[in-house]
Amino acid sequence: MQLSATALRVMMSTLWGDDPSQDLIEFRKRLDEIVITFAAPNVSDFFPILAPFDLQGIESKGKEQVSWFYGVFESMIKNRRNIRDDGKEKENISKDFMQQLLELHWRGDEKNSLSINEVKALLLDMMLAGTDTIPTAVEWAMTELLRHRDKMTKLVKELDMVVGNQNTVEDSHIPQLVYLDAVIKETLRLHPVAPLLIPHVPSETTVIGGFTVPKGCRVFINAWVIQRDPELWDDPLRFHPERFLETDINYRSNNFGFFPFGSGRRICVGVSLAEKMMALLLGSLVHSFEWGLSEGTKPSLEDKFGIVLKKTEPLVGIPVARLPNLEQYQ
Ligand code: HEM
Repeated sequence: MQLSATALRVMMSTLWGDDPSQDLIEFRKRLDEIVITFAAPNVSDFFPILAPFDLQGIESKGKEQVSWFYGVFESMIKNRRNIRDDGKEKENISKDFMQQLLELHWRGDEKNSLSINEVKALLLDMMLAGTDTIPTAVEWAMTELLRHRDKMTKLVKELDMVVGNQNTVEDSHIPQLVYLDAVIKETLRLHPVAPLLIPHVPSETTVIGGFTVPKGCRVFINAWVIQRDPELWDDPLRFHPERFLETDINYRSNNFGFFPFGSGRRICVGVSLAEKMMALLLGSLVHSFEWGLSEGTKPSLEDKFGIVLKKTEPLVGIPVARLPNLEQYQ
């Protein structure tokens, strides 16, 4: 819950700065609802001839949900327009993501311009892609660490050495936290948050490995299976972060055995932000608390299928503060 709220707050402030008037709980609820609608199997996708009838009401529900977000974005855009038109305040305008998009819209040159609808769609796209993925990945990492105490101990040791017990985990520590990075990579190998990536649609008919992929068809790429393929990975089902210490595989290395963020031109645009946020969140959880489980329990690895691969049962861990000063928790 706290992880989700933090990820949402970071995404919102990256996209449009801090706005205390916004109701985080309402935003979270609306995001959950829209993801469920987008992921629902729609008979119109399989029989496009039925699409005009919207038999399950999915299209109309989706439109209603999108229009709530667009309404919120419109009022924020209106404020920005007022500030822009008031010459005196110009220098106070923040340069967040929304502002960058609006400047592309206002500049209005033919090649790079965005319509206001495109601005709103991009903002919603980023909210949808960025908020659920990170807390889900961190929850999977904590689950694996609680199942493998030796790996947890190794990570705590690294954090104590690099961060020390007088500090909290910060951006500047991340490059030295190599085991933390390996834990996150191994987590995303076994539990890719987007197991089928996002559907791709080829613009030309192509032949790959002797198979014809027709133009316009919908292609799902099963990263979950590939990243557990015994021909590519030794002992593929074992949680073994050390395998990433011995290679230079990274998220952008075009390695077709490991691509939790996709690959090529459509690779996730949020890789850098996600890498940092996952390291800060997981690093802080493990560095600041000692984690236990209730007597006799072991966290389950059962997952439930969806656009985002979540745990069937949320993880329940028991934290005990391990840093010496209370102020470090404020
Ligand atoms: C653990 C975190 C994340 C994971 C595992 C993840 C994974 C992915 C994957 C697999 C894709 C599809 C790539 C493809 O089909 O080839 C994708 C697309 C995308 N992601 Fe992420 N993502 C994460 C976080 C984020 C964040 C934080 C943002 C926003 C800042 C973001 C924004 C996007 C967008 C906008 C797309 C669509 C790109 C396009 O095709 O135009 N993602 N992501």
